[in-house]
Amino acid sequence: MTAWQLNSFGLENLKPAQITQAEHKSDEVLIKFEAASVNPRDYQIIEGLFTQNVNFPLTPLSDGAGVVVAAGDDVTGLEIGDTVTPLFFPNWKSGEALFDERKISSGLESEGVLRKSGVYNQNAVTKIPDYLTACEAACLPCAGLTAWTSLVPVGNIEPGNTVLVQGTGGVAIAALQLSKALGARVIIISSSDEKLARAKNMGADLCINYLRQPNWGSEAFEFTGGGVDAVIEIGGAGTMEQSLNAIRHGGHIAVIGYMAGIQLDVTVFPLIIKCANLHGIATGNRDNYEQMLTFMADHKVKPTISRLYSYDEAPIALGDIAKGGHFGKLVIDFAR
Ligand SMILES: NC(=O)c1ccc[n+]([C@@H]2O[C@H](COP(=O)([O-])OP(=O)(O)OC[C@H]3O[C@@H](n4cnc5c(N)ncnc54)[C@H](OP(=O)(O)O)[C@@H]3O)[C@@H](O)[C@H]2O)c1
Repeated sequence: MTAWQLNSFGLENLKPAQITQAEHKSDEVLIKFEAASVNPRDYQIIEGLFTQNVNFPLTPLSDGAGVVVAAGDDVTGLEIGDTVTPLFFPNWKSGEALFDERKISSGLESEGVLRKSGVYNQNAVTKIPDYLTACEAACLPCAGLTAWTSLVPVGNIEPGNTVLVQGTGGVAIAALQLSKALGARVIIISSSDEKLARAKNMGADLCINYLRQPNWGSEAFEFTGGGVDAVIEIGGAGTMEQSLNAIRHGGHIAVIGYMAGIQLDVTVFPLIIKCANLHGIATGNRDNYEQMLTFMADHKVKPTISRLYSYDEAPIALGDIAKGGHFGKLVIDFAR
């Protein structure tokens, strides 16, 4: 079996490897992977920027999709031929993660998906609706679910609400698409007018270039006449002050990323005065993932893929996520 493996930190150390595939047990399935998508975390893990606590050799990438090609006798609810995605947190079924639910994550504590096949417990994978391709499904376990968790279980977004989405990457464009399908208005900010034009075509109601309009939070507040209901907070330290300007009384800020810095230095007054809610988001659990898949199937939401790469081009895809020119997701199509 072939895989991309990392034996020490650094993208230049990501190399093809031959691995012997383990036999599946009675409650396990064998998946033949067809696609994987790239997240900033994958690049950070490879470069040693996410954690130094990595067991080498590591097969990286958390998010992939493939077909069940063999199933043990005790497997129920999955059949040979089903397209599935491994969960980002295989042990986090529902509710809050109070104990060991998040100790294992795909592509870090457990082997990732940048390999031709893998054996998974039946509870660690989820069947994907038929209308999605494997490349589209591979966009969902991290970026898609993070957007859904922020909007629905945490943000309680309803038709007519307004969501402020930061950037045009994987999480942001998933949030734009899901928000529109939920019947919400979307304000989106980006450094690129070209990306904003694409977001407008996808239904964004107000587009702001955050480089030209550094006070985008106040503009969003005025546009809504009282503040946005939720913020998809991708920037982190560098955007929080404007997010607090944008949010309405009692609104929800889903703290997801740190693209604009990790160390917060903002006044807490707007948070107190507006009785706003700051929520840390850690992707999400299996129940929420399944809710999202049902919702997506009902509304025929298809993830936005910026560029497809072949399996051999995996290192290029990982380099490109760090460069940041993409709109939506970067996906490795194993069939190319
Ligand atoms: N907490 C979680 O569970 C979780 C899950 C997934 C991702 N994340 C984190 O969330 C962040 C985004 O992930 P992703 O997969 O969407 O990454 P991505 O596809 O690489 O997108 C990154 C986006 O960040 C935007 N950005 C950069 N600086 C910004 C700023 N100052 N203001 C507003 N937007 C800015 C860029 O927007 P433009 O190019 O349009 O300017 C770009 O679209 C990363 O930090 C990632 O590590 C966290």
